[in-house]
Amino acid sequence: MPKLQKINVNFPIAEASFDSGNPELNDFFYNDAIDYLKESYDQIYFIKENNNSIIIIGYIAISCGVVEFSEEMAIKKKLQSIPGLLVGRLAVDRKFHRQGFGLDLIKKAVNVAKKISIDVGCRFLIVDAKTNLKSINFYLKYKFKFTKPILGEKILEELKNGAKPKKRTIKMFFDLHQIMK
Ligand SMILES: CC(C)(COP(=O)(O)OP(=O)(O)OC[C@H]1O[C@@H](n2cnc3c(N)ncnc32)[C@H](O)[C@@H]1OP(=O)(O)O)[C@@H](O)C(=O)NCCC(=O)NCCS
Repeated sequence: MPKLQKINVNFPIAEASFDSGNPELNDFFYNDAIDYLKESYDQIYFIKENNNSIIIIGYIAISCGVVEFSEEMAIKKKLQSIPGLLVGRLAVDRKFHRQGFGLDLIKKAVNVAKKISIDVGCRFLIVDAKTNLKSINFYLKYKFKFTKPILGEKILEELKNGAKPKKRTIKMFFDLHQIMK
């Protein structure tokens, strides 16, 4: 498998080739990624092809975050605001879709979350999933759940019927206790 690496502020991003098919995620990669790093807003990991060119297969941007649950969803009803690792952005170049690279990026986030949870409270991976079938099916496949299940199911139904949901994103989470206990 191609190696996962971390972007640093000297990374020659303009020379890289990347197109996820999502303009917003491409734009972030080319225009904002380095600035976000400089500001310590996130860390960005990428997978590149195993040769000398900078063909980016995919990237993930992660930072600290918190997820808000409704009272019914709150775990053991103790805390509604629970800390986790935020998957701010995740995208795979469209030439490489459906080959498991998205999963490799999620695994990286899981490993980071497991590592930091030794020193700092960190229970979930958190993501604002884009409300399209690709993105929601992707996170569901890898055992993410909706923080608002009724709303999530409604959006999923709309998408399956070919409708465009009003909300652009929906919050989903992956419980690290599924794999840590
Ligand atoms: C969503 C995305 C990251 C998935 O990356 P990937 O490398 O293809 O993911 P994987 O190969 O690990 O997983 C594939 C799974 O994702 C889902 N999926 C991917 N493309 C899909 C599509 N066109 N329609 C429906 N489900 C899709 C399926 O569950 C699929 O599993 P399957 O192939 O067994 O049906 C990629 O499609 C992408 O970059 N899209 C544009 C950016 C984006 O939407 N990012 C998510 C932002 S929140």
